[in-house]
Amino acid sequence: MAFRSRITGTGSHLPEKILSNAELAKTVDTTDEWIVERTGIRQRHIAREGETTAILAYQAGEKALEAAGIEASELDLVIVATTTPDNTFPSTATKVQAMLGMDSGAAFDVQAVCSGFIYALSIADNFVRAGQAKNILVIGAEVFSRILDWEDRTTCVLFGDGAGAVVLQAEECEEGDKIGILSTHLHSDGKLRDLLYTDGGPGTNSTVGHVRMLGREVFRHAVTNLASVVVEALEANNLEKSDIDWLVPHQANKRILDSTAKKLGMNPDQVVITVDRHANTSAASVPLALDTAVRDGRIQKGQLVLMEAMGGGLTWGAALVRW
Ligand code: UT7
Repeated sequence: MAFRSRITGTGSHLPEKILSNAELAKTVDTTDEWIVERTGIRQRHIAREGETTAILAYQAGEKALEAAGIEASELDLVIVATTTPDNTFPSTATKVQAMLGMDSGAAFDVQAVCSGFIYALSIADNFVRAGQAKNILVIGAEVFSRILDWEDRTTCVLFGDGAGAVVLQAEECEEGDKIGILSTHLHSDGKLRDLLYTDGGPGTNSTVGHVRMLGREVFRHAVTNLASVVVEALEANNLEKSDIDWLVPHQANKRILDSTAKKLGMNPDQVVITVDRHANTSAASVPLALDTAVRDGRIQKGQLVLMEAMGGGLTWGAALVRW
């Protein structure tokens, strides 16, 4: 006997306020044309004052629980992937646990920036495989708008706020059964951490700091690393590129998505794209895109779904799921 993780529910939540490229161009030296052409982004959601990561995470989590048809009291673990926690400590996940009214289980945050959701999903899947947890809520949530330098046009036009969540449930099966999360693959290269970072935090003189990025360099690594981790995931499962039904990628730049899809020989409409409406929501982007494609009926039972992401660290990873 073995345990495998099934994604039994998804949910997401976006702040009500939408900031279009045209509105942004009134205060930042940029144009709608530049942003659309270089990134594919047309608008982003921005949290209002007081609307924190925990609030967005809780809303997404509630919807995922409802879709899975389970109660928060049945959860063994709440994992929140975020780079924009409400406080330095305690974790945002403990706040979400309290908001959900849970008085059992455990909760913690995962920090892998834009790869955070893939990292959190991998950790959750390993808890399930080890037989240590049966029901897990995995959330990616961010208010990146709070760590942007709104005078730096090379970064502030790229990001948005939001949250996405999944419920993972353990299913007992035979060893070797190819169901649910087939495998997860994580990587990092700390030597490249200066390509994308914040210039603040407890180890510096500034409390929070702002996002700094060498965009062109990050772009170059994203294209290479994502292509290699995708091949690694397929090879680990003896699957071919042509077996993939849906690619649910981290939404940083439409040009990166197009490049990965091309390398996989995938039809553009097999790629779930939300970057035009959400911009880059860091750890929230993959579960936000996943929830979109589950709720609009694109992703169907039995299909093969490939999720991948890359972010600061640099970190990158992939998860292959038989839905
Ligand atoms: O989620 C984590 C992973 N992050 C990523 O994957 C991001 C990866 N990087 C990218 O998506 C792209 O590199 C960017 C969208 C950030 C930038 O696009 P690019 O095609 O690499 O542009 P660039 O940085 O080479 O800049 C080209 C020009 C520069 O002007 P000069 O030097 O050619 O005169 C920039 O100053 O575009 C200028 N520029 C802008 N112009 C108008 C940079 N930002 C803007 C802007 N509006 N917002």
